[in-house]
Amino acid sequence: MNVYTPMSAEEFRRAAHELVDWMADFLSNIERYPVRAQVQPGEIIDQLANAPPDAGQPLEAIMQDFKQIVLPGMTHWQHPSFFAYFPANSSYPSILAEMLTATLSAQCMLWQTSPAATEMEQQVMRWLRDMIGLPKNFEGVIQDTASTSTLVALLSARERATGYRINERGFVDAEKLTVYASEHTHSSIEKGVKIAGYGRAALRHIEVDETYAMRPDALRAAIEADRQAGDIPSCVVATIGTTGSTAVDPLNEIAEVCNEYRVWLHVDAALAGSAMVLPQMRHLQAGVEKIDSYTFNPHKWMFTNFDCSAYFVKDTEALVRTFEIHPEYLKTKEGTAVNNYRDWGVQLGRRFRALKLWFVIRTYGVSGIQRVIREHLNLAQWVREQVEDARDFELLAPVPLNTVCLRYLPDAAAETESVNELNAVLMERVNATGKAYFTHTKLDGRYTIRFVIGQTYTAREHVEEGWRLLSETARALGSSK
Ligand SMILES: Cc1ncc(COP(=O)(O)O)c(C=O)c1O
Repeated sequence: MNVYTPMSAEEFRRAAHELVDWMADFLSNIERYPVRAQVQPGEIIDQLANAPPDAGQPLEAIMQDFKQIVLPGMTHWQHPSFFAYFPANSSYPSILAEMLTATLSAQCMLWQTSPAATEMEQQVMRWLRDMIGLPKNFEGVIQDTASTSTLVALLSARERATGYRINERGFVDAEKLTVYASEHTHSSIEKGVKIAGYGRAALRHIEVDETYAMRPDALRAAIEADRQAGDIPSCVVATIGTTGSTAVDPLNEIAEVCNEYRVWLHVDAALAGSAMVLPQMRHLQAGVEKIDSYTFNPHKWMFTNFDCSAYFVKDTEALVRTFEIHPEYLKTKEGTAVNNYRDWGVQLGRRFRALKLWFVIRTYGVSGIQRVIREHLNLAQWVREQVEDARDFELLAPVPLNTVCLRYLPDAAAETESVNELNAVLMERVNATGKAYFTHTKLDGRYTIRFVIGQTYTAREHVEEGWRLLSETARALGSSK
């Protein structure tokens, strides 16, 4: 071949076999690594060459640097004692499919640029829709993240509310479109509101009840007040499983308000959507048939490596009308007889993400996915019981899903500030051991340690050890004060 390539097919084959061995060893031994990276800012960049090499380098040298420089600077999201944030889990079948996706390296913007990618996406999204109990009149598309899915919903709502005028003329009228979400909504909603041109001032943060769930009466009052003032309520974002405490907004009542005022209702179930594979969890999304759109991330809690966010919408016409473009060079003879996913979201170019979902769902089977998620939910209830039974710990929120919000409270009469400091020190001390990783939020001003159970390889022993580490470190800290 008269083309310069730094690696031959045979060298690639050998290196790939070695790499797969390394990958399997790494995942089998991941518990030997600290969960949270234990490096200081700047430590990694100082070890990276100041300039790119002029001459190509051997793979052995690159791999050696990967092991010595990169690995210590990684936080290990696939570690079974990763209890921080929300998970971004993965699995062996997902990794295998990702290898194939990279091998094909197809750009799947149109049906014609890879018919199998489009039709598999169409079919796998129907599987997913049915798996999580969404009605049959929803269709799905894969976006990169929940942030993008929500942006897509906000843009569709904006266009529907204005008869598709803003797409044509921009914001030329004085009319003000408003958006509603709870005080505990994810920051991506505010970001989407800014990007979609509503303006941050148009976002109404609706009060929550004692479980941190949106109050439908407060939503109704806010919509009423805005209508009185001449604004146009356009979109409500309800959350099933807020990031702070996995609070669940009451969908059915919110949907009734939205339907009454003809407001687009988008559901952000970024984490919680995965739990809906269990029919007994679907009471958390009662009323889902009345909504307009729904997003959840298989890349969080469904063993499908980042990135893969499922976006479902009832009115696909509103979606496509919002995003479609028809430059000459993208016109194909199939026309509208096929799905061209470039018109179902922001990006033109698209990866073949459906393949990893197809691998995961087929390898686990629905019952396999249900089994692991059920176990995570049970383990979260076990942690809740430990916290409730411990006199010096306090539970700070209900536990409807896989996240337990807690704090160490050795002295119930202590000032909030000093309890907050104590818990911040406690969490840092645990994280510094590298044996487990927790992150925090604040609920009603109280520093809250979140114990999130959703990693693919997390078993009871890891959760028990995590709780032991947390409680023993707390008591050692309490007695040293
Ligand atoms: C409830 C909720 N919505 C949205 C997001 C944003 O997700 P992504 O990183 O996919 O944009 C998160 C992330 O944790 C989340 O918890």
